[in-house]
Amino acid sequence: MAVPERYDAIVLGAGAAGLMCAATAGQRGRRVLLLDHAEAPGKKILISGGGRCNFTNREAPAERFLSANPHFAKSALSRYRPEDFIALVDSHRIAWHEKTLGQLFCDGSARQIVAMLLAECDRAAGAGGAVTHSLGAAARLVEHADGRFRIAFGSRSAEAPALVIATGGPSIPKMGATGFAYDLARRFGLKVVEPRPALVPLTLGPEEAMFRTLSGVATPVEARCGKARFREAALFTHKGLSGPAILQLSSYWRPGAGIEIDLLPDEAAGWLRACKAEQPRAHLKTVLGHRLPARLAEVLAERLDLAGDLGNLANRKLDAAERRLAGWPFAPTGTEGFAKAEVTAGGIATAGLSSKTMEARHLPGLFCIGEAVDVTGWLGGYNFQWAWASGRAAAAAL
Ligand code: FDA
Repeated sequence: MAVPERYDAIVLGAGAAGLMCAATAGQRGRRVLLLDHAEAPGKKILISGGGRCNFTNREAPAERFLSANPHFAKSALSRYRPEDFIALVDSHRIAWHEKTLGQLFCDGSARQIVAMLLAECDRAAGAGGAVTHSLGAAARLVEHADGRFRIAFGSRSAEAPALVIATGGPSIPKMGATGFAYDLARRFGLKVVEPRPALVPLTLGPEEAMFRTLSGVATPVEARCGKARFREAALFTHKGLSGPAILQLSSYWRPGAGIEIDLLPDEAAGWLRACKAEQPRAHLKTVLGHRLPARLAEVLAERLDLAGDLGNLANRKLDAAERRLAGWPFAPTGTEGFAKAEVTAGGIATAGLSSKTMEARHLPGLFCIGEAVDVTGWLGGYNFQWAWASGRAAAAAL
């Protein structure tokens, strides 16, 4: 190994959390090595939000995050709030807009967020700190001895009293995402909550093949799984179900569980009886077609199998059809996996970490932040808010 370069902290992973952590620590006067095996930093930021980066949400309460310990995220989230990140974005004169449900996007490009974070890293110099970037080389041989972490990367090596694991989760492996964080965490004695794909499309089996013929059809729904319910659009795909409502639900779905979809969440109870009274000669397919995309209305009417004029159908049959439309059961066979998952749920168990500093309880100097940790946000800017907040929390302790 070459003579080790000496730093105050080594941050592994120049993604959202790692960039924020390195910049903040640097501005606190720390000399930081920020290392990534990718050739460029912030790759997931660049593709996020359709290239415009949904960088936060107006509100990010801890209830919108999943974790084995639902209280864990509270401390970091309360100390670095969406308005703090918005103020940072404003200070860099990046124009942004609110889309729906509090989701904030750049008007221009996600590149602006990466450029902003890199500029924040550069500001370290003014505070007597420094962020040294090393891209294109994976960390090898991460060791801990005598209170110092040592790593080898490329032909170089480095050591520091603090190591921050910010290498994310394995979702979208073709972008260089790995399970490296888990291997490293386990090696240093931390537990890992079984990682699973989240914010991911669900697949349907042959019994529900009829719905797969609707590929491309979207409609506003309320999707439910256990206690979780999301009112947003659902999209039928050639493999099953997607769209924001389904992606949200997927984080709560477990193999074997069923889900229910209210296909007409805006209709009040008794709407079919009202249709019968107002248009007794209409067919079910027609009244559904007035409320839903035509192809979906057709498939549903066929499934409900209520032929003839509404006026000739018994109220109890209409009530049963209405109930079914308000809670159409689907039995997903699985998800489209890490290849299509926007995030990874599960990860480094929070039980071994301080919620205030993200530091390992049993190994001072070891920190875990961002998606690598068992904290997973809803769709809508929450995962970046967690990356910023956890990165800040660790940096304050470096
Ligand atoms: P992140 O994955 O960003 O960074 C980890 C870094 O570690 C990467 O740069 C990687 O190259 C590096 N790395 C991995 N293994 C390594 C190794 N062995 N050695 C060295 N480096 C290694 N969220 C949101 O809030 N709003 C949004 O709009 C979106 N949109 C979105 C779209 C798509 C397509 C995806 C896949 C994801 C999103 N997300 C999102 C989720 C968001 O991108 C994600 O939660 C954060 O990027 C997580 O930040 P981290 O820094 O923890 O990991």
